[in-house]
Amino acid sequence: MRKMKKDVNTEKYGLVYEIHPEGPSDAKLVEIADLRIDNGGQDNILIEGENLDALNILKNDYSGRIDVICIDPPYNTGMNWLTYQDHEYMDNHDSYSHSKWLSFMNNRMKMAYSLLSENGVLFVNIDENEIGTLLLLCHQIFGEGNVDVLIWPKTDPKFDMNRKEKPIRDIKIVHEYIFVCFKNRETTKLNKILIPVQKDGEYIDAFSTVETILTGLGTTSSAKDEMEKMLGDRSKFQTPKPMRLFKELIRAASKQTSIVLDFFAGSGTTGHAVMDLNRDDNGERQFILINNKDNNICRQITYERIKKAINDEQYLASLKYFRTAY
Ligand SMILES: C[S@@+](CC[C@H](N)C(=O)[O-])C[C@H]1O[C@@H](n2cnc3c(N)ncnc32)[C@H](O)[C@@H]1O
Repeated sequence: MRKMKKDVNTEKYGLVYEIHPEGPSDAKLVEIADLRIDNGGQDNILIEGENLDALNILKNDYSGRIDVICIDPPYNTGMNWLTYQDHEYMDNHDSYSHSKWLSFMNNRMKMAYSLLSENGVLFVNIDENEIGTLLLLCHQIFGEGNVDVLIWPKTDPKFDMNRKEKPIRDIKIVHEYIFVCFKNRETTKLNKILIPVQKDGEYIDAFSTVETILTGLGTTSSAKDEMEKMLGDRSKFQTPKPMRLFKELIRAASKQTSIVLDFFAGSGTTGHAVMDLNRDDNGERQFILINNKDNNICRQITYERIKKAINDEQYLASLKYFRTAY
């Protein structure tokens, strides 16, 4: 017992990983005026560039001002067929892969924390590959009592009319996780997250408050259907999230005038969700999206989706497109 006490006093509980330094940068933002969209409403922002640099720049004007951050980072799955780099940190032969990923996330999550307002909330999607490491990292940055874990079922026969993916493991994984990280849980009141109710096996237009499982808000496959509608090809971006899911999370955590940030923007689901929500409740939320230049995703996918959404849906929303320059 005495020995155990001694051990407990000397050994630390928590994460141990290597810090992989990412040098300071002298990046600044340059607007590409040709890509500006003017359709009234809020001036939203899309930044093409490495998110650590972009966040560093945003710190000057937005520290403590962002009410909602919605991120869906690379999951470190080792998949090398995605449009974007998910395997950069992960190599099955590289024993430092978790370490590299954690170091990458730590730098960005700390920056996100400082951008959040006093009652701000960060939602982060993750799957089984890094759930353990990310949860400890969130505890470290936000404090253990400020983090909740939700489950998002990523398949659902009612939504997955076009689902062709074959299970690749003996146990078919049908869910992911969403962490809800509060800057200050004591003083933050979420609006109730509402999920559609099922009657006789069908979703009906009635809502119940969610417990921890977010059913009925779309799936990976339904998000790809949205991609097809927006960009004419359901496989153009492989890991979109359904708009309805993000819209409900943002609705739960935002005010009508909130600024919403997504620094792993991908196909721009967060921006689309903000515009749709603003239309529903006459809100004036503003979004800031960031995506790097890999495979021209920012220009050809994020920007094109937002532009098409504004055109098709006639959202009252404008956009300024910036790139980081060095
Ligand atoms: C999982 S996807 C996000 C999908 C998005 N939630 C959606 O619904 O389409 C992650 C995105 O983050 C981008 N990304 C990864 N690392 C980045 C970095 N360091 N800076 C900026 N963007 C990055 C990738 O290009 C990719 O588009």
